[in-house]
Amino acid sequence: MRKKILIAENLTKHYPVKMSGLTFSKELVHAVNEVSFSIEEKQTLGLVGESGCGKTTTARMLLRVIEPTAGQLYFDQSEEKINTLKSHSYHTNMENNSLKKDFASQKKEIDFFSYPNNKLTKERLKMQYIFQDPYLSLNPKMQIRDIITESLIEHHLITKGQKDQTAKKYLDIVGLPQTALFKYPHEFSGGQRQRINIARAIACQPHFIICDEPVSSLDVSIQSQILNLLIDIQKELGVSYLFIAHNLAVVFYISDWIAVMYTGKIVEYGPAKKLYQKPLHPYTQLLMSVVPKIGEKKDYPSLNIRGEIPSLIDYPKGCTFYNRCPIRQKACLNSFPSLKEVEPDHQCACFLVK
Ligand SMILES: Nc1ncnc2c1ncn2[C@@H]1O[C@H](COP(=O)(O)OP(=O)(O)O)[C@@H](O)[C@H]1O
Ligand SMILES: [Mg+2]
Repeated sequence: MRKKILIAENLTKHYPVKMSGLTFSKELVHAVNEVSFSIEEKQTLGLVGESGCGKTTTARMLLRVIEPTAGQLYFDQSEEKINTLKSHSYHTNMENNSLKKDFASQKKEIDFFSYPNNKLTKERLKMQYIFQDPYLSLNPKMQIRDIITESLIEHHLITKGQKDQTAKKYLDIVGLPQTALFKYPHEFSGGQRQRINIARAIACQPHFIICDEPVSSLDVSIQSQILNLLIDIQKELGVSYLFIAHNLAVVFYISDWIAVMYTGKIVEYGPAKKLYQKPLHPYTQLLMSVVPKIGEKKDYPSLNIRGEIPSLIDYPKGCTFYNRCPIRQKACLNSFPSLKEVEPDHQCACFLVK
């Protein structure tokens, strides 16, 4: 079995609702709610869902660009250490101050969300982010060679003298000519800028890259080039990806595993092949119904979905998909169904899928 490079448990982010100026109401935006997933070495987890369902918030929590409301994150840790911490957490429920202290110091070593600042800065370099908008994500005043090597110089991983040589190496990997070194972002197209973003990310030799809708703003013809580049880089460098998109077809193309998100929760989770062949949750079936399947007969209904996504502030107690669901029953209003394994490795959060 491959090592898990990342294990996220019960990730939760509730934003206070802004009133005016610096005041906040007591209400909360339930952006991400108890989301758990893991990613193995050299594998890609696709995270898919409509706009506003909490994908970017999840991604930014992983990097700790925003602090989570709750949850644990184990990044590049051995399972043995994680298990020790968990068994320790069980014991610290007892009243024993020295055990509790011990637990807190272990947590600082193992849980990414508890890392002290110096450890966080170092470890975060192993985790890189590729943004959706290739126009906003590159500093227009910097030459490409400086964009690619900025972090490396900041962290003293290369000297200024090694800058051009290093930048050249990564431009080559992403398929851009050496003449790009001295140019500025405005001289490149969207697809080329996304290549520069990828070069910047891999220059840090990360173990894990978050790709947040990296092809959503590109022309369809360019999309597959960038997806193929990401796939080639994974094969070559052995990096893992969290690949975020709202388009299920794109996610199928690149992912080994898929998590389908709706109103800040994962409603279906499993190997990409299984999800493709047999989407279980009515929401996944909705997303699937717009994915063309060449030469194959669909064995699930094409859905006609009505209704709005519910408010993340007045967060429903029952299933959040209720008002749009074609197979709903009254009982679905009582509580949100937890993710249950319906077939090996394939989980679904629906009372009615057996
Ligand atoms: N800083 C914030 N304050 C309040 N609400 C936020 C903030 N950032 C995001 N949200 C809300 O959280 C929800 C999830 O947003 P986001 O993670 O960006 O979704 P996605 O990436 O799936 O489109 C949305 O309803 C969004 O309006
Ligand atoms: Mg987003």
